[in-house]
Amino acid sequence: MRVLVLTGAGVSAESGIPTFRGKDGYWRNLDPTKLATPEAFARDPQLVWDWYRERRQRIRNAQPNAAHEAIARLAHQAKDFLLVTQNVDDLHARAGMPGEKMVQIHGDIFVTCCSRCDWRAELRDAETDNVRDHPGLAGARPSTEANELEKAEDGLPKCPECRALMRPGVVWFGEQLPGNELQRVENFLDGGACDVVIVAGTTATFGYIIDWALRGSQDGGELIEVNPEETPLSRFATRLVREPAAIALPRIVDELIR
Ligand code: OAD
Repeated sequence: MRVLVLTGAGVSAESGIPTFRGKDGYWRNLDPTKLATPEAFARDPQLVWDWYRERRQRIRNAQPNAAHEAIARLAHQAKDFLLVTQNVDDLHARAGMPGEKMVQIHGDIFVTCCSRCDWRAELRDAETDNVRDHPGLAGARPSTEANELEKAEDGLPKCPECRALMRPGVVWFGEQLPGNELQRVENFLDGGACDVVIVAGTTATFGYIIDWALRGSQDGGELIEVNPEETPLSRFATRLVREPAAIALPRIVDELIR
């Protein structure tokens, strides 16, 4: 069985991570779809970093839910499998999804990279998010990578190479998708028709999500949408499951691997 799964923020909703466009998504009365932009970062990097640090902390404290676990189970059982997630959290990985079967097309919130050059560091531990925010961690030993990040006077991380501001390693609105990850999706789609494509927890606002779902299922494959609400993809689906992902996905996966 060849399976493509596309996920969005709704899959992590039941782990307590707010979606972008849902009513809980607003932060300090600000619209996340306006915070996750190069313009917001240029205008107020402190504000944008504060938002990302809070999101990182929330994700560290969260646990994968039954939807993440079901998708990981499917990944292990299907002969050919790819998960393309728009989520920058690590809940798919923590549920057991092997890295080689997953593409994080919008990046990884725990990566910190230079806003100018290629310098990047993976900073998964809490100490990296500024002792300022976590006074209790003041005595903790910073990782080597974190050590290398210098703080500007305003407390924002600076690149050890070129001294430009560091930024979270995520894709912001209007930015290009990472070329190597895009290539992995293309390779999978070129590798043959899918028997099943599952699209779960995403508003599918980006054309490429719809495009991949349709290309994956175009040779008679099933296209299952899991979302309590209608989306632009709904009219193409061969099966609509209007339920929360953590309820629907374990059942769907059971059916598929029976
Ligand atoms: P959104 O916040 O746009 O959409 C979340 C979707 O999940 C909605 O369609 C909800 O109906 C659905 N949903 C909510 N709770 C759910 C649940 N328990 N089970 C299943 N579905 C549920 O999030 P995304 O579509 O992921 O990109 O957003 C796409 C991208 O836009 C994000 O990756 C981010 C954002 O801006 C960038 O930052 C570039």
